Amino acid sequence: MTPATAPAKLILCGEHAVVYGRPAIALPLGDVRASAAVASGPPGTGLRLLAPDLGEAWAATAAPDNPLSELALTVAARFGLAGADLTVTLGSAIPIASGMGSGAAIGTALVRALAAHSGVVLPPAEVAALVYASEQRFHGTPSGIDNTVVAYEQAIWYVRPPSPNHHGPSVPTLAPICIGTPLMLVVGDTGVRSATKLPVGAVRAAWQADPATYEAHFAAVGGVVTQARAALANGELPRLGQLLDANQALLEQLGVSSPALEQLVAAARSAGALGAKLSGAGWGGVMLALVNATTCGAVVEALQAAGATRVLVTTVGAVTDPV
Ligand code: PMV
Repeated sequence: MTPATAPAKLILCGEHAVVYGRPAIALPLGDVRASAAVASGPPGTGLRLLAPDLGEAWAATAAPDNPLSELALTVAARFGLAGADLTVTLGSAIPIASGMGSGAAIGTALVRALAAHSGVVLPPAEVAALVYASEQRFHGTPSGIDNTVVAYEQAIWYVRPPSPNHHGPSVPTLAPICIGTPLMLVVGDTGVRSATKLPVGAVRAAWQADPATYEAHFAAVGGVVTQARAALANGELPRLGQLLDANQALLEQLGVSSPALEQLVAAARSAGALGAKLSGAGWGGVMLALVNATTCGAVVEALQAAGATRVLVTTVGAVTDPV
């Protein structure tokens, strides 16, 4: 059977502050994907997960604390497949724990594959909700931006207002965004793997200790993201680059940057990028640089020379009439 797939993602701007009700902008990376394929398994084997790229295979019920086991068992039960003998083969070209949404993409592909196996085509909102529920169980306080951009596979403006009294999830607002002129981005990987929940937890502790300062930082990020939306819509790339730099400065103040990220950001800027910042949770993972056709090659070379373990170039097409 044809595997279900889902794309990687990049947060263009607004990470971390998005957990506190401010807007963020995220983009899908359609040519870097995760996949899941479901086949009937030998009788009596139950639900098994195989990750041949990692050389791993496990029975879902034998590893219930693994987020993928738990998601697979929950979703299988939802589609009347509880107890069925199924083999789910997972694959991914997305580096793990790097800010590119690997967990959300594998989860999304898994949900789609199990739904398809039971003859159901799920709308993106339902796929996103199932993956979000899983992220909540394992990551604490996710904003939901990762699973949303991955499930919808389009550039989005995303806001999840704080839930009343912080009890229960609130309803996010998402809107497709206008992109006036295509964006060329270079992504540089520090090669440092960092679990999302660690910097997210550190920001929460710092916010609890000093809410006024952190709320001011989050509000400043929200202002930058709002201006970035306008710059994107108007095709004002130099302005967008300045805003990405401003967002990086605020992320440094939030304490989620790192020397390795800042080395790549500085290298990209020196090589002519219009702007550069970390992307995702930080402390490792990837950074992105906004470039044009003239500067792209120099920025790629500069990132490689500065120690990036992987560099990829992606273009996000113009969106003039979003639906
Ligand atoms: O590094 P990632 O792809 O897991 O991105 C996390 C984004 C945060 O804003 C830091 C957390 C969240 O839940 O939105």
